[in-house]
Amino acid sequence: MAIERFDVVDLIRTKRDRGALSAEQIDWLVDAYTRGYVGDEQMAAMTMAIFLNGMQREEIRDLTLAMIASGERMNFDALSKLTTDKHSTGGVGDKITLPLAPLVASFGVAVPQLSGRGLGHTGGTLDKLESIPGWRAELSNEEFFAQLESVGSVICAAGAGLAPADKKLYALRDITGTVEAIPLIASSIMSKKIAEGTASLVLDVKFGSGAFLQDPARGRELAETMVALGKDAGVATVALLTNMNVPLGLAIGNANEVQESVEVLAGGGPGDVVELTVALAHEMLTLAGQPDADVEAALRDGRAMDTWRAMISAQGGDPDAALPVAREQHVVTADRDGVLVRQEALPFGIAAWRLGAGRARKEDPVQHAAGIDLHAKPGDTVTKGQPLFTLSADEPERFERALAAVEGAWEIAETGTRFEREPLIADRIA
Ligand code: URA
Repeated sequence: MAIERFDVVDLIRTKRDRGALSAEQIDWLVDAYTRGYVGDEQMAAMTMAIFLNGMQREEIRDLTLAMIASGERMNFDALSKLTTDKHSTGGVGDKITLPLAPLVASFGVAVPQLSGRGLGHTGGTLDKLESIPGWRAELSNEEFFAQLESVGSVICAAGAGLAPADKKLYALRDITGTVEAIPLIASSIMSKKIAEGTASLVLDVKFGSGAFLQDPARGRELAETMVALGKDAGVATVALLTNMNVPLGLAIGNANEVQESVEVLAGGGPGDVVELTVALAHEMLTLAGQPDADVEAALRDGRAMDTWRAMISAQGGDPDAALPVAREQHVVTADRDGVLVRQEALPFGIAAWRLGAGRARKEDPVQHAAGIDLHAKPGDTVTKGQPLFTLSADEPERFERALAAVEGAWEIAETGTRFEREPLIADRIA
């Protein structure tokens, strides 16, 4: 039997007592956990110690590197195009990847968007795209590279080979109340993005009601930590710190989010979705050497739409096919005249999830037509009886629990009440 280099209990005690782990200790810990020598109960104690006591910057870097080393690294050197990628920490109604990837690719840049399925109230990009008849998330390596070269953008499932240590650790954090630790979130996201091999990366780090971290200061700390990790690894990285107190756009679900994304690609769509798509595209193209690219023009003149259609078709989807529609609808109307002054992201995300748009266990299917369509946003004047939002589900029994989730989550103030929207993009961290 091979002799182990460290004693895991010593390492747990070190973190418990606010000490720092060396690079050798972290490498060993991640490797020993991945191969099953360190047990889940020991790693759970370690992640809780990290959650409570934090990690120094060097430890976070070493943890990220160890998780990268647990799997394969991709390499885009053989591509004729520069690569750029985007990652969002997730929010309610966040469908930005859908219009963004083809928009950026329409400028001749490769956008390899390895995505996941949703768990809990934040939706997964693959779940949304799977509402398009025929569309396929699983691609072989050859298909992936060929599509990057021909179309430019690919949104597909991440293979199991990237940062397998993170997969195991994330599943453990999920059931031990240790997800919301900045060192663990930052190393988890950045290990996958660095292993993926992109030359540059734009992060959309969210704060507020519908985000992982509600407090803007903690969102900023996460953004700064991830930008530093990217730079240390030679990936040009920029983060936008964005507000997730209100759902993004008007659609929360799967098929309806695809529909809204297509509206953006057709030059329309809700102002907040367009604003964030354009801002992120500008950052990605700047990192890819095109700071003067006219992003809005590509939305107006159909170039981004052409790339979207090519991207969907290349993965077996029919961009002209009708999207699924739910069997049942329930409309909630305004009970008075006034100004809508509050619409909290998290309850609406939970309600969409309860309607069937999300999954509670990773093996559950999602119902692609389930979700919520908002008809008014904070700041809008509403009149009594006007529809505020529509719930859609295949099973009407789901409405009651969804309505319970949004109870008290919106507010209509007196007509004439002044309302100031919070800026969507709070800061840029480079
Ligand atoms: N997304 C990830 O991939 N990891 C985290 O820890 C949190 C969000």
